[in-house]
Amino acid sequence: MSKLRVIKYGNPILRLKAKKVEVHDDNIKQLIKNMVEVMGEEEGIGLAAPQVAESIALLVIDHSLIDEEGEPTAYLNPEILTAEGESEMEEGCLSIPDIREEVKRPETITVKYQNVEGQLFEKQVDGLLARVLQHEIDHLNGVLFVDRISSMKKQLLKKKLKSIAAEEKEQMSQMA
Ligand code: NI
Repeated sequence: MSKLRVIKYGNPILRLKAKKVEVHDDNIKQLIKNMVEVMGEEEGIGLAAPQVAESIALLVIDHSLIDEEGEPTAYLNPEILTAEGESEMEEGCLSIPDIREEVKRPETITVKYQNVEGQLFEKQVDGLLARVLQHEIDHLNGVLFVDRISSMKKQLLKKKLKSIAAEEKEQMSQMA
């Protein structure tokens, strides 16, 4: 498998609704491995499969950046069951380089997901992990964090976003 490229704002794949992962085979394991590698290289705390042009419901989070004993973990078919409270935190995204903005989201969520073997888990999380999970699950629904800021703020980013999209268009035409 060739090295994965993180696709950027403007690429239509980022706007698709990701398909459920139905088969937990070696291909998925290899994809997870490659995603974890790219996430490390790009110094991200999370990465969703659509960001590497795979429109499936899979994301990885580097738990070592959240707590000392943590390690990179894959979440398959994640779903938010409950959401409570509100917090504001600055977010960035590997698909939207050099832009960081404060985003309001629920503080505590209950999430249901499968691990790579297909085992089902349900847990309540808050703080940074809840934040990263919500950001990455948004990716699986074609939603980006810049969709969750005020239209006034987004207006201020318009030029930057346009230039990211123009560069991505260039990249896409080179790959085609
Ligand atoms: Ni992102």
